[in-house]
Amino acid sequence: MSDLERRQRRHVLYTWTAQRGARPIEIKGGEGAWFFDHAGERWLDFESQVYNVNAGHGERRITEAIVAQARENAVAHPAAVFEAKAALGEALAAITPGDLDHFFFCLSGAEANENALKIARLVTGRSKVIARRRSYHGASMGALSLTGDNRRWAVEPGLWGVVRAEDPYCYRCPFGRFDGEGCALECATHLEHVIQMEGPQRIAAVFMEGVTGANGGFIPPAGYWPKVREICDRYGILLVSDEVFSGFGRTGEWFAVNHWGVVPDMITMAKGLTGGYASLGAVAVSDRIAAHFEDEKLWCGLTSYAHPIACAAAKAAIEVYQADHLIERAKALEPVLQEEMDRIYREHEIIGDARSIGLFGTMELVVDRETRQEVIPANMPTIYKPFEAALTAAFLKRRLHMPFRGNDLFICPPLCISEADLRYGIRLIDEALTETMPLFRQIRSGELTVESTP
Ligand SMILES: Cc1ncc(COP(=O)(O)O)c(C=O)c1O
Repeated sequence: MSDLERRQRRHVLYTWTAQRGARPIEIKGGEGAWFFDHAGERWLDFESQVYNVNAGHGERRITEAIVAQARENAVAHPAAVFEAKAALGEALAAITPGDLDHFFFCLSGAEANENALKIARLVTGRSKVIARRRSYHGASMGALSLTGDNRRWAVEPGLWGVVRAEDPYCYRCPFGRFDGEGCALECATHLEHVIQMEGPQRIAAVFMEGVTGANGGFIPPAGYWPKVREICDRYGILLVSDEVFSGFGRTGEWFAVNHWGVVPDMITMAKGLTGGYASLGAVAVSDRIAAHFEDEKLWCGLTSYAHPIACAAAKAAIEVYQADHLIERAKALEPVLQEEMDRIYREHEIIGDARSIGLFGTMELVVDRETRQEVIPANMPTIYKPFEAALTAAFLKRRLHMPFRGNDLFICPPLCISEADLRYGIRLIDEALTETMPLFRQIRSGELTVESTP
């Protein structure tokens, strides 16, 4: 442990982990798809830190905008009028779909969802909300209550009135239509059934990720979002797309819902909004919702609302995405990503499915392709723990910052990554899998048990 790490460990807590098991990441600076540790080693960032550094590391156009704003004015009352705030509103209105032209600002993705939830209740006068099973919406009380994955356990029983719906997860279709075979969009029909059983007149909103992020990177079938839009309209329920993960080019569109031409009533965003250079979240709301608050009080606010430095960072990040055509770039690199993942799929039987949208690739681990049994099943102990640890170590050894969550390996580099670096990183994954496959096979055959592993 370095001296710096020791000093930090003494006073600063790590997130989402027992402190003893924390896996610190060093970072001193970076450039493009790479970041540097304190020893000057270069790491390829396949997680874009936490899926937020979409514009890349060391992006001077953003840091200079931050410095300029800090010099001019770094503090402002939430109601203050200033250039960066007005300009950010205009820049966002130009890239959000349909009439989502009004923005409420906050500090994070979780806060964006908290505020969207309040706005939905205020506008409809209804209290229940529907959210999906394999989902993540943030770590605060309300956002975790919306969340389907086990991070919610920390706040259970959580917020009253959150009703769960099944996912459009084609590889593990909850309705038995694996890989779309015979699919009649039962996942959307099921949502309507849930609405009817819960009482449509009591449901304020449906929250769903544009494309599911950390819970599996699965891409809904083409008709899903339009059908969900139709269902919500039928019952006067607001549709909220959480684009915190899937927004700002990650899927090859500004927002994932654009793939299906759907305009939700609200979009929540954060992460790529500033490219990770400052803390900012936002809720985009439609003309109709904004009109509601012309005479009704908007019961939402925070001290650092539309902070000048965060506004300047976001405006500069949007300009970088536009000037460098990063959204189009993510789309253009998707076939390269898929081609490389298909190669790995052919070479490693542990990969059950390899799917991608834009610069968001997911490789799902299975014990057996036929049965699709998970290597690291959700919320269950796994005999493959030593393999999981070995694979993680194999990525670290190669200085690949690689998101590996549950059963899924994600590939989410900054959108400015070169084709050569993208292919290089996937070769590193290939090497890491090759190195750890003997251990995987030993465990699978029963030759090695957890008890007999060092
Ligand atoms: C889809 C989604 N929503 C919300 C959040 C929460 O964002 P934040 O960590 O900025 O609160 C995340 C974070 O990973 C996310 O992936």
